[in-house]
Amino acid sequence: GEYKMAFKKDFLWGGATAANQCEGGSNEGKRGLANVDLMPLGKERYLVGTGKKKMYEFNENYFYPALTAVDFYHHYKEDIALFAEMGFKTFRLSIAWTRIFPNGDEQTPNEEGLKFYEDVFKECHKYGIEPLVTLNHFDCPMHLVKTIGGWRSREMITHFLKLCKVLFNRYKGLVKYWLTFNEINMILHFPFVAAGIYFEENENNTQATITAVHHQLVASALVTKMAHEINQENQIGCMVAAGSYYPETCKPEDYWKAICDNREVYMFTDVQARGYYPNYAIKWIEKRNAIIPFAKEDKEILKNNTVDFVSFSYYSSRVSSSDEDKGNQSESNIFSSAINPYLKTSQWGWAIDPLGFRSTINELYDRYQKPLFVVENGLGAKDTVAEDGSIHDEYRIEYLREHIRSMKAAVEEDGVEIMGYTTWGCIDLISNGTGEVAKRYGFIYVDRDNLGNGSYQRKKKDSFY
Ligand code: BG6
Repeated sequence: GEYKMAFKKDFLWGGATAANQCEGGSNEGKRGLANVDLMPLGKERYLVGTGKKKMYEFNENYFYPALTAVDFYHHYKEDIALFAEMGFKTFRLSIAWTRIFPNGDEQTPNEEGLKFYEDVFKECHKYGIEPLVTLNHFDCPMHLVKTIGGWRSREMITHFLKLCKVLFNRYKGLVKYWLTFNEINMILHFPFVAAGIYFEENENNTQATITAVHHQLVASALVTKMAHEINQENQIGCMVAAGSYYPETCKPEDYWKAICDNREVYMFTDVQARGYYPNYAIKWIEKRNAIIPFAKEDKEILKNNTVDFVSFSYYSSRVSSSDEDKGNQSESNIFSSAINPYLKTSQWGWAIDPLGFRSTINELYDRYQKPLFVVENGLGAKDTVAEDGSIHDEYRIEYLREHIRSMKAAVEEDGVEIMGYTTWGCIDLISNGTGEVAKRYGFIYVDRDNLGNGSYQRKKKDSFY
């Protein structure tokens, strides 16, 4: 009957990747240098991502995993055929900005880059796979980092809109699902990765961050408007790194801390889905002696161009503690957390919490009443190839099974509207946080080690089946 909730027939099941973590081919097709190319393997990766160490060009003392990644650039036909064999209905990928505009500020796009993605999208459609395209997944041309300081400059909006206009026109009829900025809240934790910004000495870091955030939020709204104008079929989503914060105890201070921590996630999507900065965000910014750099028309732009759906990544729940030391005991996806004694963790220490997935889904749906799209969920783990070539990744199967069950409950029992679900790293790829390939997420194994050695051959894991 009317109240019986179920997965939609056209539910978009599939997998997700990002250009810099997957493509490689970084010197091919006249591609330019991007911020994420300069993220090294090893301890310094975190320092560069947070801007504590500045990397403007390659340094021979480091290894840069994005340069070859898993070579999707040359393997895409084979990879998409494997996705089709698994029954994918959608494939999430991102556009490498510097394939289209190598420096970011050119007037004419690079045809080779445009042709590459056109071929990829056509290959998807051959199998009835609908592309889901992230316009910006941790990706900023280094030329724009060097010349205008990345997203701290309002000029970025113009360059980004120019990119999006080219993409929307060129891929009309091939792509209709788009995400603006991947994990837009990551900017608070990984500012160089998320926005190409490095802090200057003695500057108010919050001011620099909020300036960049505001520019991205205005860009996101303008891109939403443009997408709808160019093609009425286009559907645009925002994307946030989600995962509810639980209070560590029922102590009121812990609960209050959890509210505050959750708001550091919501304050981005609140603007994108509701069309204005909530009061608590304005106060949060004020308290840190910063201001939102509104231009005259910005409030109208934000108000009139909210997203069609809300997408998010979910790996773990998080735990808030009013005791700062405890609050930083653990980490998942760059978000610090207190330890949750009720949960097991992954080999990288990320808490595994399928029920937390259901809670997170419900909280986002209650808040926005817009369709949700789960665009990342998965388990990073070490895999072993047995002598006969098989890979028994029952831990990954279990993680995904439990999370899918939880999502099913959110749909069938709670009545949440979900458009689709893409697992992170449907094929092994470079880890954003650590730069390793050994932190494997895929159903498809790629024969490549952390230092880029290997045949890059693809193998099916048990989870593939
Ligand atoms: C999200 C990102 O942060 O989580 C991905 O959108 C990332 O780019 C994924 O790869 C998993 O994190 P990690 O650090 O294990 O790669």
